Amino acid sequence: MRAKRLLLLLPLIAAPFVLPAQTTLRQVADQRRLLLGSAAQAGEFGGANLLAEVPYATTLSTHFNLLEGENAMKWSPIHPDPTRYNFTGADRLAAFAREQKMKLRGHTLLWHSSNPTWLSDQAKTATPQAMAATLKQHIDTVVGRYKGQIFAWDVVNEAVSDTATANGTLLRDSIWNNQPGIGLAGTAYIEQAFRWAHEADPDALLFYNDYSIEGPGGKFSAVLNMVRDFVARGVPIHGVGFQMHVTSSGYPDSAGLRQNFQAIAALGLQIHITEMDVRLPVTNGVASEANLAAQAATYSRILTICLQTPACTALQTWGFTDKYSWIPGFFTGFGAALPFDVLYQPKPAVAAMINTFQSVAPTLSSNGIVNAASYRGGAVAPGELITIFGATYGPATIVGAALDSNGLVSSNLASTRVLFDGVAAPLIYSLTGQVSAVVPYEVAGRQQTSVEYEFNGVRSAPVQVNVVATAPAIFAADATGSGPGLILTPGYTVITTADPAPVGSVVIVLATGAGSVVGGAKTGGIAQGIGQQSAAITATIGGMNADIAYAGPAPGLVNGVLQVNLTVPKALSAGIYPVVITVGGVRTQDGVTIAVR
Ligand code: G3I
Repeated sequence: MRAKRLLLLLPLIAAPFVLPAQTTLRQVADQRRLLLGSAAQAGEFGGANLLAEVPYATTLSTHFNLLEGENAMKWSPIHPDPTRYNFTGADRLAAFAREQKMKLRGHTLLWHSSNPTWLSDQAKTATPQAMAATLKQHIDTVVGRYKGQIFAWDVVNEAVSDTATANGTLLRDSIWNNQPGIGLAGTAYIEQAFRWAHEADPDALLFYNDYSIEGPGGKFSAVLNMVRDFVARGVPIHGVGFQMHVTSSGYPDSAGLRQNFQAIAALGLQIHITEMDVRLPVTNGVASEANLAAQAATYSRILTICLQTPACTALQTWGFTDKYSWIPGFFTGFGAALPFDVLYQPKPAVAAMINTFQSVAPTLSSNGIVNAASYRGGAVAPGELITIFGATYGPATIVGAALDSNGLVSSNLASTRVLFDGVAAPLIYSLTGQVSAVVPYEVAGRQQTSVEYEFNGVRSAPVQVNVVATAPAIFAADATGSGPGLILTPGYTVITTADPAPVGSVVIVLATGAGSVVGGAKTGGIAQGIGQQSAAITATIGGMNADIAYAGPAPGLVNGVLQVNLTVPKALSAGIYPVVITVGGVRTQDGVTIAVR
């Protein structure tokens, strides 16, 4: 009987694990340049190295671009004895992330839980100074080992008391705080951990991580006050981790979560959703269809808020398959909290998140629309090359300009478009978070233009931008908006301090924002020959007038690039001088220079 029953199971067990060919979470997350991650188990705590299990590893690397050890980098697994570290699990995670081209997050350098017995014992008798030395050595060793591999750390986890406001106690008791602590009062021990972590890896992003801060209330206020103080005093902190262990019952309320995200973002900090799971009531581990649908709606709702918050740069689930989740052991009667079921099949939450990635309109803010040469914001001019920053959409790697079948610069790059009053503009390049376009000449004469950007057919809300006749700016040679200008010899070599322009010689300055062209210029067209700008143009080098031999479209480049051929004033002596071009009475940005000999 038993043999027969086993045979029935064989197809389930023996079947080769192949993911159905469908859109994956990783594909759509990459397009939206959101780090979508999962915690994973790599054999710590005596458990199995799940990364060695094909279905686990395949699902993880197929659907996620970010990885974090659920337990491997906590004190107990990684520092089991006072003088011994065990990096086995952590190294497996680092190797897996490297092989699968995933980002790797570290969790956690300081926590009141999961500390090894030797440390808890030490805390009973050690001096704060000894505890400080132990903590510093741990941070130096662990952060140092993964320097350049772990891009972000949960430096401190769950240090704020759950009753932060009720009785005024801000911080939870712990061996690191006051039992016996490391000899620092208040939040100073948390600050110290951040400073040590930053010293160990100055490039890693450092986060404070906690739960039950996803809505307004005393605990969030305490966290906000603490990180606001850190930011004000230059403590090296880069973000706050919101754990997001929730149910599908409505917490956190969307408005409250947005409010909390905005408050953290306003400090210039990033937001990572670090441990999301949506636990459901289960019977023998099985949830109802209705609850699975509610779960999908919750994953979609939280992801939407993250996508609409540019500062929200990562969303991690705490595990990804119901086969391995902390929930059933911690919340009796609950389970099925993760996007994939115990057989690694996608639950409704997966399709819901894919749809969310593909349908939630990206956010656009007018101060993200700047001149492509000077990065100055404000009004736009006909033909101006602009750059839009902050658009969380588009290709993960840069896609450069292309000509369409009419020989015009294409207005659709990798499913991204930028529209002015509903008309798609030529695109210079597109990259998630940054897209460069040419303001159509057709906006000339309008007071304002309505800018939208679109990814995969989904448009942002329109943003109104004022239109001016000219908004000139000179391209910098290093594309920083200042410093040596993109200024060429007649032979088209770039003039540099090593190869200065002789006085009296003609140089070619490349700029944009010069406005309309006499006789009109075709939006997206490649300038075939010389032309004349409608607005008057003058130039100075070192404050001296520079004769202009030509000022107009740059032959061979897209209409909108201004070429000014000017003569370096003979009266100048060798040196580095500011270059200023004035178009229609408007000056280019300060700080662009030319080297003269
Ligand atoms: O694998 C061993 C097993 O062999 C042994 O028989 C069993 C009995 O002790 O222990 C098993 O290890 C347990 C491990 O989870 C299994 O993955 C550890 O004891 C147990 O401490 C560990 O709990 C982890 C917990 O943090 C404490 O470190 C959970 O997996 C992990 O999901 C949970 O994660 C925390 C985050 O770090 C911080 N935020 C809250 C979150 C949930 O509590």
